Amino acid sequence: SKGTYEFYMLKEISEQPSVLRHLDQFYLDDKGEPQIDKAILTALAQADRLYIFAAGTSYHAGLVGQALLEHLTDLPTEVGLASEAGYHFPMMSKHPFFIFLSQSGETADSRVVLQEALKRKIPCLTLTNVPNSTLAREADYTMSLEAGPEIAVASTKAYTAQVALEAILAKALGEQLGKQKARDFSLRTNLALAAEGIEEVISDQKRLEQLAQKYLIPSRNAFYIGRGIDYPLALEAALKLKEVSYIQTEGFAAAELKHGTISLIEQGTPVIALINDPVTSDLMRGNIQEVVARGASVITIASKELAKPNDDLVLPQLDYYLRPLVSVVVSQLLAYFASKDKGLDVDKPRNLAKSVTVE
Ligand code: M6R
Repeated sequence: SKGTYEFYMLKEISEQPSVLRHLDQFYLDDKGEPQIDKAILTALAQADRLYIFAAGTSYHAGLVGQALLEHLTDLPTEVGLASEAGYHFPMMSKHPFFIFLSQSGETADSRVVLQEALKRKIPCLTLTNVPNSTLAREADYTMSLEAGPEIAVASTKAYTAQVALEAILAKALGEQLGKQKARDFSLRTNLALAAEGIEEVISDQKRLEQLAQKYLIPSRNAFYIGRGIDYPLALEAALKLKEVSYIQTEGFAAAELKHGTISLIEQGTPVIALINDPVTSDLMRGNIQEVVARGASVITIASKELAKPNDDLVLPQLDYYLRPLVSVVVSQLLAYFASKDKGLDVDKPRNLAKSVTVE
């Protein structure tokens, strides 16, 4: 039940710190080492390339997983939209391994890819929140997201669980492949920091509601921009906002705006800028200036060590690759308040169902 929460979406957003702590308990031993089924690790370690397939929010979690997996395992990793790959199967390496991400485990588009992969004898692993679901039963291997039932149509805690589980998998595989980077990556510390960071963001929710009221609700459109790990995050943040608030929102690689889309910026267009990438943060500040000069109302969200005095929100320190775990919660809450304060049905946006079982 929703308990004291007005909507499931807020309840599920608020559960994210405990989801991360539970994943630590469920998948890590007392030394903080990942405990993963040997058969899965052995199969993964034989792959020369990983392929992730998913839809919607799970696809966006896959894009973060790609960065994590490549960083900790050095294995080239590709991410595909299941709906596209199903009928236009991508070129395969010699020893591919497929990972399916699906909250529901019932997404028809992903099932088409899975069926084709099984025909081709490609090993398949499903990460899902519903252990008995179709995608879990049909794949060779499965792992549980352990997020608890997600009722709101907008996916929130399943995203954070997916990113966390991808990190767990990446560390385990990296260690299996003898990578020092994987050994040095402290999952326990980072998951705990992420859980605390999410709690900080949630305790600041009044401020996020004010930002949503001031900048988002009056607008027909909005942009999220970011570079590096903030680019896939911008895609997810934009999907969340448009899905529940009906404000047309695009997620953009910040430097791409000037190649066309910047012509959409008008006086007062809200642009939410994500600044978590130390490599490109100076360039990102330049990209922000470009939209400010065209009249945009910019909300800046920055990691502590990259923050400037005028930033709207400063996020606590965290490993670069896991920063989406905290930043995404900012976008979830902005979306939630934009929808709720418009008087919309937050949990059941129009035209949508929780799981999409048609192609
Ligand atoms: O159950 P799945 O993770 O396979 O669902 C995939 C998408 O349909 C889902 O993430 C959808 O995009 C959400 N409504 C986004 O909030």
